[in-house]
Amino acid sequence: MTPDLMADGAERLARHRSKTTSVVEGEQVYFGQGVALYVDEITVSFDGFRALNKLSLTIDVGELRCIIGPNGAGKTTMMDCITGKTRPDSGTVFFGSNVDLLRLSEPQIAQIGVGRKFQKPTVYEQLSVFENLELALKADRGVRAALFHRLGSEQLGRIEEVLKLIHLQGEVQRTAGLLSHGQKQWLEIGMLLMQDPKLLLLDEPVAGMTDEETERTAELFLTLEGKHSLVVVEHDMKFVDQLTQGRKKVTVLHEGSVLAEGLLSDVQANEKVVEVYLGR
Ligand SMILES: Nc1ncnc2c1ncn2[C@@H]1O[C@H](COP(=O)(O)OP(=O)(O)OP(=O)(O)O)[C@@H](O)[C@H]1O
Ligand SMILES: [Mg+2]
Repeated sequence: MTPDLMADGAERLARHRSKTTSVVEGEQVYFGQGVALYVDEITVSFDGFRALNKLSLTIDVGELRCIIGPNGAGKTTMMDCITGKTRPDSGTVFFGSNVDLLRLSEPQIAQIGVGRKFQKPTVYEQLSVFENLELALKADRGVRAALFHRLGSEQLGRIEEVLKLIHLQGEVQRTAGLLSHGQKQWLEIGMLLMQDPKLLLLDEPVAGMTDEETERTAELFLTLEGKHSLVVVEHDMKFVDQLTQGRKKVTVLHEGSVLAEGLLSDVQANEKVVEVYLGR
């Protein structure tokens, strides 16, 4: 073969590979560098308005990171970019050291281990708590097929484990629609956990919860820390304080970029942060 033909072949192979990486089936995520999520200089514009402006941040494996910032700072848009709902105009988003999330579709990103919780709970109201978890476990089967598929003992064990984590052991047969707002939120988190995501993104998870439910949610997240990486967006500073335990880093977003990063007590004392957010 001539060098020209070899080069041509190599180029075609590379092109083919770049297409096939979008197939998630069997794809491995490597966390060798200890990094779960790497976001570098992402910019998103809506009709010329920059919702994200060269936003960069890194989340470590097992880390629990709280993100705070005023309304419109770009917190939800950042989650939209990580989960494939919005495509940034430029920048990089990597899951682990090897998976380029900007090349995957929304379902593929979920499948590869990134779970997302929206603010409003989205559980199947007419089904029981147990059935909701069962469905989440077999999300790829479709509702009817999933409900008729018998669970193995390992899967039942997993449901038990998650029920305990989300404090719903006593409500297994209860119709989800009858749960309190907080319990529905926990059930949805439980549904995410059934897929055992490596990275969990939680957008304002305690909005509308009672003080007691908020405290229990913080306990739940602290239990998940280490086994999963968690990115928690919240306005409730008491909750953030409970999660960070005086030693974890928080990130403050403002106008689509990181305004400050550090211990909660430090960013709370930061003049710029007080001016744009906490002081109001
Ligand atoms: N699809 C869209 N089209 C146009 N503008 C948008 C769109 N999505 C978000 N924006 C704008 O981008 C900015 C960032 O919004 P985003 O929802 O990310 O803020 P946020 O930090 O989550 O705020 P909040 O704390 O209120 O939830 C806002 O000014 C918002 O109006
Ligand atoms: Mg938001």
